[in-house]
Amino acid sequence: MIDPFGRTITYLRVSVTDRCDFRCVYCMAEEMSFLPKAELLTLEELDRVCSAFIRLGVRKLRLTGGEPLVRRNIMSLFRRLGRHLETAALDELTLTTNGSQLARYADELRDCGVRRVNVSLDTLDPQKFTEITRRGRIEQVLEGLAAAKRAGLQVKINAVALRGINEDELSDLVAWAGGEGFDLVFIEVMPMGDIGGETRLDQYLPLSLVRARLQQRWTLDDSDYRTGGPARYVTVRETGRRLGFITPLTHNFCESCNRVRLTCTGTLYMCLGQEDAADLRAPLRQSEGDEAVEQAIREAISRKPKGHDFVIDRRHNRPALARHMSVTGG
Ligand code: 5AD
Ligand code: SF4
Repeated sequence: MIDPFGRTITYLRVSVTDRCDFRCVYCMAEEMSFLPKAELLTLEELDRVCSAFIRLGVRKLRLTGGEPLVRRNIMSLFRRLGRHLETAALDELTLTTNGSQLARYADELRDCGVRRVNVSLDTLDPQKFTEITRRGRIEQVLEGLAAAKRAGLQVKINAVALRGINEDELSDLVAWAGGEGFDLVFIEVMPMGDIGGETRLDQYLPLSLVRARLQQRWTLDDSDYRTGGPARYVTVRETGRRLGFITPLTHNFCESCNRVRLTCTGTLYMCLGQEDAADLRAPLRQSEGDEAVEQAIREAISRKPKGHDFVIDRRHNRPALARHMSVTGG
């Protein structure tokens, strides 16, 4: 699949649920109304649509949410998708998780062919962790990380840089990740979805500043390592680990975009930062065969836009996009 700007689409991210057991302050409001079950693609439909994408050229698949591991019976989907690794139709099956259920699932994930996980963790301070997630316990996540390590999964930590919340800790996170053997990526807050009283502008901490501060303690060597994603990487000389920066507001990374995103209701977003979308649920449900859905996918890719235009709207203090990250998957 090649889009109108010559980019080959090889990476699909799928949100398998909009639900989560946490309520991170930058992601959700305290009270969230989640989608009714009937709106969601079934696990079988998710398998069908992912398999259609793989036939059309997707080589890397990431399950996200919400929190993917809170969806009931989600391991059966990992198991089924793992078969595409065995036939080498797929290079990588992975997930982004908050880690709360990893202690339970790490071994099974490995057994399904998963080799790497991205785990979100913004602080090492137990109290702050509970403040940021509004209901999480850090011990649970640390146990999950230990289980992932034992299972032989490579771990990348995603940490959102939050002004006045974890900004004094980011350097310690670099040390900790280095000690654990984890890669680390810092993310700037993105203006997606209503989060209640607070505003993203209060939370926003530019990574240019973070980087300058880190350089007081760490030697950051530029690296040409790329994952095809938006992160720019350096190597921390003292720990030997990679450190990434995702700066959606200050940096444009659209030229090399190789990905599309599917929501848990079967809506395909061709760009994280644009409203244009294609419905794949109707073609999935309209027939048992997969021709209609493949056709809808091809048609959607032919409309992939050139790039996003995120800005935190200062004047009106509202998100640039109405939908939450937990709907589209980060
Ligand atoms: N801005 C930046 N990062 C976000 N995440 C969720 N919502 C936002 C947002 N508004 C992060 C999560 C996770 C990753 C998938 O996206 O913390 O690490
Ligand atoms: Fe859940 Fe991740 Fe959103 Fe936090 S950021 S509420 S863990 S989906």
